[in-house]
Amino acid sequence: MIQPARAIGWASHLPDEVVTNDDLERTLDTTDAWIRERTGISERRVGGHPPSMAVTAACEAMAVAGCEASTLDLILVATSTTDQHLPAAASRVHDALGANCGAFDINAACSGFVYALVTAYGFLATGMKRVLVVGSDAMSRIVDWQDRGTAILFGDGAGALVLEAGGDGGLVTYDMGTDSASRHILYCDVGSKLQMEGREVFKVAVRSVVDSIQRALKAAEMDAGDIDVFVPHQANYRIVEAVCSRLGIPCEKSVNTLAHTGNTSAGSIPVAIAHALERGRIHDGDTVLLAGFGAGMSWGSAIVRWSA
Ligand code: ACO
Repeated sequence: MIQPARAIGWASHLPDEVVTNDDLERTLDTTDAWIRERTGISERRVGGHPPSMAVTAACEAMAVAGCEASTLDLILVATSTTDQHLPAAASRVHDALGANCGAFDINAACSGFVYALVTAYGFLATGMKRVLVVGSDAMSRIVDWQDRGTAILFGDGAGALVLEAGGDGGLVTYDMGTDSASRHILYCDVGSKLQMEGREVFKVAVRSVVDSIQRALKAAEMDAGDIDVFVPHQANYRIVEAVCSRLGIPCEKSVNTLAHTGNTSAGSIPVAIAHALERGRIHDGDTVLLAGFGAGMSWGSAIVRWSA
């Protein structure tokens, strides 16, 4: 175990406005059947504001944790779509909670939550007691709604996790990496819209996630059979199926919120964790595998022994 810690609070938040595949059929040269077959997505939420979604998820996670904001040692927000160059979105969460600790953002695109989580465990290892980790993105702000190659995939959402040092579980191992030579296949310039070579991203995603998980499993001296719950980044169900099949993880062990959220970037994994916890799919003692990938091209895997 790299760092013992338990999750004492969690929550997710999605904006109210729903855009279904049928809605997109009216404005794009696409069909509901094509989108569902190629991605697994039926609808997504839009109209989100990244710092506000982060605040809502953070406040709910703190309410679940039942602790005062003054007891937090650090606030981390993973986001790449926030509305100000500075200050960080984490500063708004800090203000809304009335916290008195440090607060900063992490931008690793869709890998952001895994990077923030590993960072949180690192700070807990240096002596911090409680860290709030949030992932929040509003991809609807940077998607070109006239581009059928990207508009069908993305949505808005946020999730939060409060970690406390100690307990029987925690971070078992992790793997992070970046294929920076491939950063041109997925990017968004400031003030512009998201550009993506979908087929290339698909291939890099499957390869990097599979390799990353294999490295994390090896470092933990585990194999795929030891994984109880798999929480993948929610980008495309075909990517999840390909990763599961290459690793020998039954797809039923994966958590999938994608059909109703689309890809919410840094929001995707914490939204999926909250979804799984609310449905009793993650239990104390479970070995939970988290795996993210995104622009960079970045990837990150974490194996966590769950303790709440
Ligand atoms: N509706 C209907 N037809 C479409 C659409 C659409 N929305 N998009 C493409 N097509 C057509 C293409 O024009 C092509 O037609 P053709 O055969 O006549 O040339 C055909 O469908 C197949 O196109 P492909 O691009 O090969 O489709 P593919 O199966 O690869 O699916 C997709 C495209 C869904 C984008 C897929 O490549 C994908 O999911 N890639 C990964 C994207 C991803 O995960 N991005 C997020 C990364 S995380 C982050 O950091 C943000």
